[in-house]
Amino acid sequence: MDPGIYKIIHFVGLIVFFTGIGSLLALDPKRPAALRRPAMIHGVGLLLLLVSGFGLQAKLKLGFPGWFTAKLAILIVLGAMIAVIKRKLIPTPIVYLLVIVLGSAAADLGFSNSMILRP
Ligand code: HEM
Repeated sequence: MDPGIYKIIHFVGLIVFFTGIGSLLALDPKRPAALRRPAMIHGVGLLLLLVSGFGLQAKLKLGFPGWFTAKLAILIVLGAMIAVIKRKLIPTPIVYLLVIVLGSAAADLGFSNSMILRP
């Protein structure tokens, strides 16, 4: 498959993933039934991001550079946010900030190491 297709899937995954996180944050964690759909959206986004990320890695023959591992680590933390949000482990404004900072860091790592933009 063309790496451009993986890139589109990567961006669609980002939209789906952050829609899920945003919806989870806006809902009352004391009503678990209401969280079911946003949790599913969060999971689908996570999967799309991972599959397209590894697809890009394989197609562009990137190996395992530090920035790639850092992005994986960021995704693991963002994935774990579902438990943080459900259990209210961290105050919501801090979670908003954390998710935005981590998401932006991952985007910066993607852009500044892009083989597609700077072959
Ligand atoms: C919140 C998480 C993530 C964000 C915000 C993000 C963002 C981005 C962005 C903006 C690009 C565009 C680079 C370009 O225009 O060429 C990109 C590319 C890429 N991302 Fe992600 N990404 C995330 C997670 C991941 C994960 C988990 C992986 C690995 C499994 C990954 C692997 C890649 C790869 C391999 C590229 C291609 C780099 C290249 O063009 O050479 N990303 N990402």
